[in-house]
Amino acid sequence: MTKVWDGFIRGFHWLLVIGIAVLYVSGEEGWLDLHFVTGYLILALMLTRLIWGVIGSDTAKLSSLIHSPKSALLAMRSGAQSVGHNPAGSYMVLLFFVLIVVQLLSGLMSTDDILVEGPLVAYIPTSWSEIASELHHENFEVLLYTIALHILAIIVYRLKGKNLAKTLLTGKENNVQLKPRMVPGKWAYLIFIILSVLIMSVWGEQPLSALIN
Ligand code: HEM
Ligand code: HEM
Repeated sequence: MTKVWDGFIRGFHWLLVIGIAVLYVSGEEGWLDLHFVTGYLILALMLTRLIWGVIGSDTAKLSSLIHSPKSALLAMRSGAQSVGHNPAGSYMVLLFFVLIVVQLLSGLMSTDDILVEGPLVAYIPTSWSEIASELHHENFEVLLYTIALHILAIIVYRLKGKNLAKTLLTGKENNVQLKPRMVPGKWAYLIFIILSVLIMSVWGEQPLSALIN
């Protein structure tokens, strides 16, 4: 057994899944205090993932996500051995990161036109926040389609005999020739906690106290 995913990548993924589910329900239902608090935590989580993409384990590296379209096609056809994300999967991961960052940034500039506005609305022209609110809505649709495609791809791999979800739960994989360099995930969690506290202390007080009371 070779360790291919460090503790943070595994935690990041499942926290992201829970976070997006909460953001979806709270956004649709208009529970915006919950939406904001969760949004700030996912902002901290995503920022940590991007930092980890520079200083983290080999399989977390953003540079390892960049492949030529040719090698992605080859990997899809041949199922060639790779460690971490395979070249085709890397495109989906990059797409996820872009969509999530756009969703977070547009959220910070969104308003429900009644009572609630994201913390950056005060600093931008009204026309921008109208565009951001529209984008926050439309981009989420694209995110949903991407999630559906992602789950479909995992199922297809499963039918072909590769249990990717189990690997992402345990972090370990059989019969891997390459041994990626791993950095302990605890450092990423430390960064995540520091960023969460920072963001919460700047923007979180109002929604957090409304949630608790
Ligand atoms: C809200 C829904 C989901 C989102 C936004 C999402 C997003 C992501 C992202 C961003 C990655 C890349 C991880 C990284 O490098 O940091 C990833 C990988 C992965 N996800 Fe998800 N995911 C979702 C749901 C699921 C579900 C329900 C499953 C399981 C059935 C799953 C299984 C996997 C697996 C196995 C990988 C690793 C793929 C590989 O081996 O290259 N995901 N996902
Ligand atoms: C990945 C993170 C996020 C996701 C997936 C998400 C998702 C959603 C969804 C599905 C809605 C309902 C949209 C509609 O019915 O048109 C919504 C509304 C909203 N979101 Fe987010 N959101 C995220 C982050 C944020 C953040 C960080 C903020 C601000 C701090 C924010 C602020 C808002 C506001 C103000 C609305 C109400 C907009 C309206 O009523 O038109 N969101 N969000």
